[in-house]
Amino acid sequence: MSDPSDDLSSAPGYVRHARLRHWVSDVARLAKPDRIVWCDGSQAEYDRLCAELVTSGAFLRLNPKLRPNSFLARSDPGDVARMEDRTFICSAKQEDAGPTNNWIEPAQMRATLERLFDGCMRGRTMYVVPFSMGPIGSPIAQIGIEISDSAYVVVSMRIMTRMGRAVIEQLGADGDYVPGVHSVGAPLPPGQEDVRWPCNKDDKWIVHFPETREIWSFGSGYGGNALLGKKCLALRIASVMARDQGWLAEHMLILGVEAPDGQKTYISAGFPSACGKTNLAMVIPPGALKGWKVTTIGEDIAWLKPGADGRFRAINPEAGFFGVAPGTSVATNLNAMKMLHANTIFTNVALTPEGDVWWEGMTDTPPARLIDWQGKDWTPEEGKKSGRLAAHPNSRFTVPAAQCPSIDPAWEDPSGVPISAFLFGGRRAATIPLVVEAPSWEDGVYMAATLGSETTAAITGKVGVVRRDPMAMLAFCGYNMGDYFGHWLEMGRAVARPPRMFRVNWFRRGADGKFIWPGFGENMRVLKWAVERCQGKAGAVETPLGLMPRWEDLAWIGLEEFSREQFVELTRVDGAAWRDELASHDELFGKLGDHLPAALEQCRAALHAQLGA
Ligand code: GTP
Ligand code: SPV
Ligand code: MN
Repeated sequence: MSDPSDDLSSAPGYVRHARLRHWVSDVARLAKPDRIVWCDGSQAEYDRLCAELVTSGAFLRLNPKLRPNSFLARSDPGDVARMEDRTFICSAKQEDAGPTNNWIEPAQMRATLERLFDGCMRGRTMYVVPFSMGPIGSPIAQIGIEISDSAYVVVSMRIMTRMGRAVIEQLGADGDYVPGVHSVGAPLPPGQEDVRWPCNKDDKWIVHFPETREIWSFGSGYGGNALLGKKCLALRIASVMARDQGWLAEHMLILGVEAPDGQKTYISAGFPSACGKTNLAMVIPPGALKGWKVTTIGEDIAWLKPGADGRFRAINPEAGFFGVAPGTSVATNLNAMKMLHANTIFTNVALTPEGDVWWEGMTDTPPARLIDWQGKDWTPEEGKKSGRLAAHPNSRFTVPAAQCPSIDPAWEDPSGVPISAFLFGGRRAATIPLVVEAPSWEDGVYMAATLGSETTAAITGKVGVVRRDPMAMLAFCGYNMGDYFGHWLEMGRAVARPPRMFRVNWFRRGADGKFIWPGFGENMRVLKWAVERCQGKAGAVETPLGLMPRWEDLAWIGLEEFSREQFVELTRVDGAAWRDELASHDELFGKLGDHLPAALEQCRAALHAQLGA
């Protein structure tokens, strides 16, 4: 077979970008694929790749009558989530990656990558995937080119980003792009049949070079490890660009709240992985809150730039949603259930005998028989006995954003929507009250910087361990966390009207171990209070933690079963628990050394004094 990398003309005629052509052939020379395919992003190409994935056994076509044009993928059981311990920020100086990122000296890392990628695509097709984060051609968009040997990645990127020929045309002969190279790290020897989900069991690397804005990912085919536009480009690399250029790249949803008088308020909210962004982004207000409406702009990533009007303007750089399946039901997230009706790729959910999907929480009673996420027979009785779940806890759907019934008419507006409030929230069984408003921007940055959350199945490793996850960006900030805090403080001064800052917690548990707060649609009551605080309408009481709603400041109509006593429990400030909490803040700040901004050190001292700790 001829060596495809020798043939620079493997690029279609519309690729006028010499540097891009050379980079692609350099990568091909290293990875040694059998063939190169430049993706045009067409429906025909998507359909062809999905059909190939069905033929190879990687995809199962769902029943077209129940779930048209939709597929189920089952991953390798060892490749089910992001791997933070295998994620690296290789800045020239370790100090620039900071104490919260894994760092390896760039030259050493490059040598490792040369070794890993040498011949890693043998027997496979190398796809060139041009994509735009943000509407193509918009001044805020960033272009990336992902080279990948996974067709699953290609079809997923077509949903999650604006992908294909139009991006190449936008690049012209010398436009800038962020290069990303991805391999499942499983070369296929001649004659050997492929496995359902190729990956490298022993070696996984997700590597970023912030100075040269490059991404290299090896060994995993799952989610944020492999779809390089998402966490790698739109957060880790973009956070560095944002620091240099004066904007913010955040792990945040964006939603619009329309009040009964028609006034619209936009809110952006940062929650760690699997802590409720997708759900809040498309929340349906309880019927009793007449006239309130919520619209969706984004559910995972927000890029925010200071606007001429003195406010942050936010855009969602993605074009699709990669959401957690378990827990999604008509009761918890009706908009999501509706948007998943067709054109969806499901990964690691269970399969029903009718050829449809199921996951824990979709219905109260599971179907009598299922095929679980690993392809094994499953019954509710057996599942109960063994504790084996039908769907993996981090099973996901990949779906075009345009299919979301609550999508905001302005969701693709390149000028973004004006943000009035930032919410931050983690998953905390104890200590953290339902909602607190920060009295100032500095206090709000402190509150966000010290956000804590229990770890979830979205990341490999132990679940349910409380850790500091500043701004929900612990795994996504591409530079020194102390400098990032400084950047946040500065950005508050870059706009005349900085957003109000709130911290929320939907996940506090009572003595019975159950969630005290009903959550989901009822979270609208907290959104309403936040919106009315922005409008100067709602009351609050000062507490050592900040401003909190009194019982009478929240709307309770339609939630009569929720008692005043429960509200007291939900908002209680426990002195002993807060002393532990502050010790944990101190621990994070202690690591940051002289990168920690003095203003946050002052907030810390003030909070210690307030709480008498
Ligand atoms: P990533 O995509 O990993 O960034 O997650 P996310 O922040 O978008 O989280 P998502 O909305 O997908 O929610 C994760 C899990 O939390 C799902 O199982 C939801 O059903 C559950 N969840 C979301 N909101 C609430 C809530 O208000 N209360 C409770 N109890 N669970 C919730
Ligand atoms: C997250 O983990 O925050 C996700 C899923 O949104 S992934 O795309 O895998 O990062
Ligand atoms: Mn996320």
